[in-house]
Amino acid sequence: MADATSHQSTETRFSRRSLIALADLSSDEIRSLLSSARDMVDAAAWPGAARTDLAGHSVGTLFFEDSTRTRSSFTLAAQRMGAHVVDCSGAGTSVSKGETIVDTALTIESMGVSALVVRCTPEDGVRAVADAVQCAVISAGAGAGEHPTQGLLDCLTIAREFDRDDAFDFSGLRLLIVGDLAHSRVAGSAVVGFTKLGGEVICCCPEEMTPGPPMASSLTIERDLDRVIQDVDIVMMLRIQMERGADPGSMNAYTKAYQLDARRAALMRDDAIVMHPGPMNREVEIASEVADGPRSRIWTQVRLGVPVRMAALLHCIQSTT
Ligand code: CP
Repeated sequence: MADATSHQSTETRFSRRSLIALADLSSDEIRSLLSSARDMVDAAAWPGAARTDLAGHSVGTLFFEDSTRTRSSFTLAAQRMGAHVVDCSGAGTSVSKGETIVDTALTIESMGVSALVVRCTPEDGVRAVADAVQCAVISAGAGAGEHPTQGLLDCLTIAREFDRDDAFDFSGLRLLIVGDLAHSRVAGSAVVGFTKLGGEVICCCPEEMTPGPPMASSLTIERDLDRVIQDVDIVMMLRIQMERGADPGSMNAYTKAYQLDARRAALMRDDAIVMHPGPMNREVEIASEVADGPRSRIWTQVRLGVPVRMAALLHCIQSTT
């Protein structure tokens, strides 16, 4: 089994207690996490506890919003590293009685966990938890802000696809993000991560889904998907975030202008790939024939979420001990 640091160079190693947003990290810290995740891909695929780095540690998962991929992969990641997991999520918790997110986090920490994984609706909620507790804290997505481990797994997927997983240098690569950028924390982390690694990000969305500052100031915004899709390496489709107030207006008009269907996929470069963070709304932002087609790397993204979260847990917990 490869050691987590076997490819580590003299770059700055990520050694923070908390992983809240990729915007907090230097490009070398992002590369450090990606290098560790790359070296854990084989261990992540093992069905049991492939490593013992976190044996004796417990990880609390606090999900105040629904999740399939992120919650499951953090749980598997902790287990693959030998840690125990205590899940304290949403319905069935004392949050329904008025307990705050921070008090819930302090409660679980008091029972003796080494790390808390937190998903919540307030954009500053995970940072508030990190400020209140002493253990490691990792964001599993906060409001419409950032989803840092999603950003990392997206970058790892791209790096492996385009043979950039040695230096994690994305110069010359162009990422097109399509859809509801205004409400997407996935886009928030993808833009930051991809840009910090040297790539170029282009966004394509309707006026009402255009991100505001500070993200907007660093972005190229396009409206014509048919035109821009022809000149990029990666197309990342986003779900419309109805739960955050997105209003696509006429769904027919939206899908006509922004759905990635087979006709549009045929306009892409021969080696260009399609990504989607999930959950997908099939036949809305993406047609099934594209989601299930040869360009799709959607299940690769899901698979690489496990080693990315193994690396995040390991680095954050190690920094507290
Ligand atoms: N991509 C993502 O965060 O999916 P879940 O909401 O299922 O965790």
